[in-house]
Amino acid sequence: MADLDRAFATRAVHAGERASQKDYTPVVTPIHPTVGFLYDSIDDLDAIFDTAREGYVYPRYGSPTVAAFEVAMADLEEGEAAHAFATGMAAIHAALLVAGVEAGANIVAALDLYGATHTLLDRLLTQLGATTRFVDVTDLPAVELALAETDPVVLVAETISNPLVKVANLPKLANLAHRYGAKLLVDNTFASPYICTPLKHGADFVIHSATKFIAGHGDVMAGVVVTSAEFRQELYEVNKLVGGVLGPFEAWLALRGLKTLPLRMRQQCANAAQVAEWLAGHTKIARVNYPGLEHHPQHALAQQLFGERGYGGVLSFEIAGADKATAFRFMENLELCLPATTLGDIYTLLLHPASSSHRSLPKEERARLGITEGLVRLSVGIEDANDVIADIDQALRKLSV
Ligand SMILES: Cc1ncc(COP(=O)(O)O)c(C=O)c1O
Repeated sequence: MADLDRAFATRAVHAGERASQKDYTPVVTPIHPTVGFLYDSIDDLDAIFDTAREGYVYPRYGSPTVAAFEVAMADLEEGEAAHAFATGMAAIHAALLVAGVEAGANIVAALDLYGATHTLLDRLLTQLGATTRFVDVTDLPAVELALAETDPVVLVAETISNPLVKVANLPKLANLAHRYGAKLLVDNTFASPYICTPLKHGADFVIHSATKFIAGHGDVMAGVVVTSAEFRQELYEVNKLVGGVLGPFEAWLALRGLKTLPLRMRQQCANAAQVAEWLAGHTKIARVNYPGLEHHPQHALAQQLFGERGYGGVLSFEIAGADKATAFRFMENLELCLPATTLGDIYTLLLHPASSSHRSLPKEERARLGITEGLVRLSVGIEDANDVIADIDQALRKLSV
């Protein structure tokens, strides 16, 4: 009933809002796009500010839809707690700060990290006074030497690296990092918790670009760190000030995406394996990188870490004798696979690492890593693998190499 003691303008602002939800529970977590939260007494608000009771005061400090996504991620990664961020890069940045990165601190990091992570370490954090030593994390004696020589606060690695899909020996890296007093931060974006849960192998922080397999549909940007309750509290304190928070609409999409993660990953792993096998037998392909192939240098390790679940949905391959222009023509020839600068979606996506994800690396650095001008990264979707293969086949046929 309208409260006619109040003017139309007042009712227009307040009508319908704040319906009690105390006697029912929605099956699906609603999107809560509110900036403010009201309580019966201001003492309640005060207690929440004081962390004496749980609740929400302002979305930069936390909000219900985001919290639901965090609970789900902590659950799937088998961690104590999770903190969500606006993007994967915001998550990595905050996790590095909480791991102890500050002026004067040393970091040891994998050579072939995602380009922006490499640049964050090598440029932005370097400008602020931290120093990063990059090392091939598949070379354990080299990792140990770097740890011994630099006494770092953190060792940074990707479970499956981008774009060369090398597999990190997480249990051994965790042992080494801890022996030298460093934390292990693992970017698990390419693997997803469906095939690997790094905390179980000793990692201290697991981060995701949830933009990728976690959300899975190419329609949202999100990031998350899964860690101990203690570190989660520190992440919260950092993000309260820095403000790279996930919005409620994005949290809802990411949470919705999680529900089909096992189905999507199962299909994407199977499809990627089929496409990798086919590419490995093609005369115009010089090299295929996929941990599921027996010739992959870490195939046995991948079997041990990932078990029966598969080897991920991403592979990379080098077109024989191709320069940048040839790689570009190949991508333009595709009719089904999409040349988009992302991965982990239900759609099959291609990218030219040298000119996109790893563009910010100096050319010599790319060459040293093996990111050549003819290298293409393929993130296989959930389409029928035979259609994906037919599309790549016709695009390769049109090349004169
Ligand atoms: C392995 C990996 N980590 C982190 C990121 C950064 O994530 P976002 O783009 O969500 O900031 C990406 C983005 O492509 C990535 O591939």
